[in-house]
Amino acid sequence: MKVAVVGGGGREHAIIKKLKQSAEITELFCLPGNGGISYDATCVPIKATDLDGVVDFVKENGIEYVVVAPDDPLVLGLVDRLAEIGVPAFGPSQKAAIIEGSKVFSKELMKKYGIPTAQYAVFDSAHEAVDYLRHEARFPIVLKADGLALGKGVLICDNFVQAAAGVKAIMEDKMFGSAGNQMVIEEFLTGPEVSVLAFTDGKTMVPMVSSMDHKRALDDDEGPNTGGMGTIAPNPYYTPEIAKICMETIFLPTMAAMNTEGRTFKGCLYFGLMLTPDGPKVIEYNCRFGDPETQVVLPLLESDLFSIMRAVTEERLGEAEVHFSSGAATCVVVASGGYPQQYKTGCEMRGLTKGGVALCDVTVYHAGTKCEGERLVTAGGRVLGVTGTAETLDQAIEKAYQGVKQISFEGHFCRSDIGQKALAANQRKDG
Ligand code: AMP
Ligand code: GLY
Repeated sequence: MKVAVVGGGGREHAIIKKLKQSAEITELFCLPGNGGISYDATCVPIKATDLDGVVDFVKENGIEYVVVAPDDPLVLGLVDRLAEIGVPAFGPSQKAAIIEGSKVFSKELMKKYGIPTAQYAVFDSAHEAVDYLRHEARFPIVLKADGLALGKGVLICDNFVQAAAGVKAIMEDKMFGSAGNQMVIEEFLTGPEVSVLAFTDGKTMVPMVSSMDHKRALDDDEGPNTGGMGTIAPNPYYTPEIAKICMETIFLPTMAAMNTEGRTFKGCLYFGLMLTPDGPKVIEYNCRFGDPETQVVLPLLESDLFSIMRAVTEERLGEAEVHFSSGAATCVVVASGGYPQQYKTGCEMRGLTKGGVALCDVTVYHAGTKCEGERLVTAGGRVLGVTGTAETLDQAIEKAYQGVKQISFEGHFCRSDIGQKALAANQRKDG
């Protein structure tokens, strides 16, 4: 079959490398892809948010199945547009993608159906929000812009002055654009965070191996929030007992709630969870695979990804084989100096071949790279994700960092402590 993946980052590279293992796929395209993805698929310079462009390409080239990976084309309704021309796609409809597209929607869904999450209030105007902060709020408190904001629409504020400035930035200065037309103010929760990606076709829910993101730019969770500086899987805090509670109180109720609302979710549903002293609670839903969670979850998938995706689209996930290895994976993101603020692009990459690096069990996923003739240069803030897989987490960490050591470009940096928190949790469990 001729298959196209929409998107162009590290997550898409991980999806493509896995799809390449499927015997059923004869030709693989990526729209728009990136420098490194072009070694594994035919990249076509059509932006993921150019819905007309994607639909025309699919029609003109006889593409038979599409995987829509990023949030924005899903929220814009690309899967529905493809359905109109009779092409099946992996990912939720626009009606279901709202679970990520609107925080107000997702909070109200959780409240209506009793799904555990932080207490909250919704605001349409800055002065009402500031009034609430002055008279009713307890600090620290969390401000969230309603709409999509490149994963940056969350502000954690320690006091009234900070929070009032945050409300102004979101609702008046529109720092996240129209995403800030409405906002949620919610209770600050504490506890370890877990990411769980789950396949669902609206009838069956199959969680994948759990993972842990490292969102801050610097070691020891210092520095600004980023799109994610590294991940590990499985997450040691996510024990079988907690997994069972999450299935019963969060995953299945969310699937049922979306069905009842007439918004059946088909695709990969991402649960951002916090394991609070009162039990697991939802921090956020995403309507797609996480980035860089996918770069540790898919390398541990032993079953055929394409068969699972088609089973989801055809609502027969219950029959599909979804099996993960018992090993561990670590992904270390290599970023451009200055990220997540100003950074330089166009820097030549050294130490990489088309196959990545010459190390066993190390895979290099490209997030922000570009080919210039025969040269490979940087083209984004997060440039690469280097994943190591092994029997145990400590070996996986070691492999990932061995891979990182082989690669260089001007100004590159990475966190040196990816996986350390998880290792310490493992040691406490074993001890
Ligand atoms: P999000 O963009 O929704 O993933 O939020 C980014 C990060 O903000 C999360 O990974 C959490 O670390 C933190 N966060 C979001 N909501 C809360 C909350 N209610 N309490 C504490 N931390 C939160
Ligand atoms: N890693 C967090 C996300 O994909 O939103």
